[in-house]
Amino acid sequence: MTRPFHLAWFVNFAVDEWNGPFSAGGTPWNGEFYIDMAKAMERACFDYIMLEDTLMISDSYGGSMDAYLKYALMGPKGDPAPLAALLGNHTSKMGVVATFSTMAYPPYMLARLCATLDNICGGRFGWNIVTSGENLAAQNFGMDELPPRQDRYDMADEYVELCRQLWMSWEPGAIVKDHATDTYVDYTKVHPIHFKGRYYKCRGPLNCVPPKQGNPQRPAFVQAGGSPRGRQFAAQTADSIIAVASSVKAMKAYRDDIRERAEKFGRDPDEVKVFFIASPVLAETEASAKRRFEAYTASIEYQVKTLASVSSITDIDFSQFDLDEELPHLTTNGEQGSLDAFAQWGSGKTLRQLCKDRATRGLDGFVGTPDQVADRMGEVMDEVGGDGFLISSPFQKVSREYILQVCEGLVPALQRRGLTRTSYAEPTLRENLKAF
Ligand SMILES: Cc1cc2nc3c(=O)[nH]c(=O)nc-3n(C[C@H](O)[C@H](O)[C@H](O)COP(=O)(O)O)c2cc1C
Repeated sequence: MTRPFHLAWFVNFAVDEWNGPFSAGGTPWNGEFYIDMAKAMERACFDYIMLEDTLMISDSYGGSMDAYLKYALMGPKGDPAPLAALLGNHTSKMGVVATFSTMAYPPYMLARLCATLDNICGGRFGWNIVTSGENLAAQNFGMDELPPRQDRYDMADEYVELCRQLWMSWEPGAIVKDHATDTYVDYTKVHPIHFKGRYYKCRGPLNCVPPKQGNPQRPAFVQAGGSPRGRQFAAQTADSIIAVASSVKAMKAYRDDIRERAEKFGRDPDEVKVFFIASPVLAETEASAKRRFEAYTASIEYQVKTLASVSSITDIDFSQFDLDEELPHLTTNGEQGSLDAFAQWGSGKTLRQLCKDRATRGLDGFVGTPDQVADRMGEVMDEVGGDGFLISSPFQKVSREYILQVCEGLVPALQRRGLTRTSYAEPTLRENLKAF
């Protein structure tokens, strides 16, 4: 038996379910909607809230920004960094993870930003390390197209090493605050790093205090590599990996692969927590949950939103394919892992069915009452071997109603079964991830 397991939630600083019956109004830009969400999650003892980010308005679906802007998909959105600071300030135990791309930030800026956020969050900050997967994002940063995946991850290896050195450029105990000698910092404990790599060069030291999470000083690392090269990076680096899979079997295979890779890097595989996306559809009765799921996934709007989202993260125009046919085999320099999970190669399913499956990420038994779904989550975790789930709304956007269903319905049902935590044992995100 693999219990208990961990919980996180995948969300972005974007429009809430603005035109649904439980709308919060569609203008969450002062952060209050997400502060309320984080507080509800902390009461439910989630490990972390994970703030997604990409750096463009897509036009991959149908060669136009129409669907993206009309349905507010992947934009407009706010920058995750200031939201992470706000959430850290309004919570006291839960982890706060924000996505920053190695393509977009010079490493020095990233290291400083993460160190600052980890202090604001009191040692509960995590960096979701992404290399970006869209040509349109690359074009916002002076490139014509994305470098190939292999190069992106080679650069990311060096990038993370540089950041680690910057975070350690202040020895523990460098801040002495000695009134007698009027000394705030002992300069002998702060060192330039003189980093010279293949891609990056940086003198150091960091000009802010190091991250609060120590030994070694760094934020928690989250990653989502799906390709073999991405998995290699994730298995070597991450404290927590977030992943998509199209079946319980695929989840187990992914986790086993990550654990094997981590061991080859000399890591204890138990220190790499793999969280799988799950999108439960919840209601007071199974019948009403199923009714809602069917009605939602049958609409044309749902199909367009789903295909536009998948187009955006793969740079493949899914408007060109027939909904009632199987997909041809496809590859991408973008999110190959997400494409594979969506397409379920060899399943013989039509594109229409794949869209429907995506609402619950292909996991059966996730549409029902909180008790039913809690039982199913326990079964799935037992089969997979651990470590946790990453909740993501099946309705593309988050509403107060859905937050309530998860935090006040599903999680208490999990807790009654001893499946998820009922308190935080440790003060930092990295320690809480390792607690079980
Ligand atoms: C659950 C999940 C969340 C992700 N979040 C982001 C994100 O916020 N920003 C981003 O640019 N990429 C994100 N990605 C993409 C990954 O960083 C990665 O590129 C993708 O899984 C494909 O793997 P690969 O890079 O090894 O091909 C996410 C992927 C998954 C599965």
